[in-house]
Amino acid sequence: MFGIGNKKISTESYKGVRDFYPEDQAIQNYIFGVMAGVAKSWGYVEYGASVLEPLQLYKSKSSEEIVNEQIYSFTDRGEREVALRPEMTPTSARMIASKIQELPVPIRWYSIPNLFRYEKPQRGRLREHWQLNVDLFGIPNLLAEVEVISLAFDIMKKFGAEEKDFQIKINSRLLLDDLFKKININEDKKQFVYRLIDKKEKLSDKDFRHSLGALIGEKSAKKLLENFYLGEALLVSMNESIAAKNLNKMIDILRGRGISNIIFTPVLTRGFEYYTGVVFEVFDTNKENPRSLFGGGRYDDLVNSFINQKIPAFGFGMGDVTIKDFLKTHNLLPEINSTVDVCICIAPETNIEEVYKIAKIFREKGINVSVDISAKKLADQLKSLSKRKIPFVMTVGSEELKNQNFTIRNTKTREEKSGGISDIIKFLENV
Ligand code: HAM
Repeated sequence: MFGIGNKKISTESYKGVRDFYPEDQAIQNYIFGVMAGVAKSWGYVEYGASVLEPLQLYKSKSSEEIVNEQIYSFTDRGEREVALRPEMTPTSARMIASKIQELPVPIRWYSIPNLFRYEKPQRGRLREHWQLNVDLFGIPNLLAEVEVISLAFDIMKKFGAEEKDFQIKINSRLLLDDLFKKININEDKKQFVYRLIDKKEKLSDKDFRHSLGALIGEKSAKKLLENFYLGEALLVSMNESIAAKNLNKMIDILRGRGISNIIFTPVLTRGFEYYTGVVFEVFDTNKENPRSLFGGGRYDDLVNSFINQKIPAFGFGMGDVTIKDFLKTHNLLPEINSTVDVCICIAPETNIEEVYKIAKIFREKGINVSVDISAKKLADQLKSLSKRKIPFVMTVGSEELKNQNFTIRNTKTREEKSGGISDIIKFLENV
């Protein structure tokens, strides 16, 4: 007996997570299909892992905000501290470290895991999301950045987006380090300045200036801001910095590949402690929804927090929630049909076993078919089809079975085709 006495259980899902009804799942599958398709086309292979990880994995290496405020964790029956993974990067680094002797470098991996963060649910932020992770391990130079950012761009294009719909903001923590040195910001302030810059968008200009001044002193703060305001000219003015040269070169190569919407953004740092070099983040350019869509960066020291071997890495995480919002905003979500290709409706007094034999022939040819065994009136069977978004219907009665002559109808265009079963199959195979 379920429920508490006569009280019924709520049908609401847990706060901040989603149920995927078949039409939602179909959209989700479409999104995953595009992501995985592009990743595979660039030679990336899929990996997976459990949602459960030792809490320790995130304690030193993830972002402070995630570990202190957002992690779902519990103590198991064996007194182990366990976390529901809030991101995939520590897991992939752990897996790479564990088998590094067997894995041929460079390693190109992708995965679409579900991740959990205790966030205040709002547009673009939920407590469970799925995130495409694309990571390239073993390439220490800018060829990794160029490849992975080109791949990310390719995904956006495959979704139907144009360059003007989104912007790729890029920066380098090494360049910031050089800039900090140039204006005498103390090395031990570095992580704090990164973090403050990462929060810049959430603060008013005044608050940001104030916090920056408190952190590094008014004079350095003023100098830092002056440099930030230079925009791309900063790359030129820092011509003694190798990081600036590399970033310049990288942007040139990417633009040469037709990726014109890339923009150097010195105030981009991204929140994770593990990033060591180039970071990038992609933004929707829509004025009503200028949100971050996804991002990533270089993390050359994460794998060697498990083993005594340095494996450089560059990758990104692209969430399903932000991408779906983007596709909706830009009218890029395709209309998605049911995975059922044909519904067979049954006329009264028809031999159901004979109908199932026909359905079997369809299935053997790779055509997905459902048989309507509701015993409803034919008109009612047909009515339910448009709701189900099944593209074809075939009504079968004793006459059709006797003559082995069937008619299949496109439920949208109402176009019909009649003939024997093999004719119908040929017709379906060619649509
Ligand atoms: P992240 O910026 O925390 O990076 O997340 C990447 C993307 O995942 C975000 O831009 C967003 O699309 C999505 N996302 C994150 N949190 C949520 C949420 N609460 N609700 C909905 N979507 C969300 C990382 O996680 C890095 N580990 C990515 C990475 C991979 N860096 C290198 N390799």
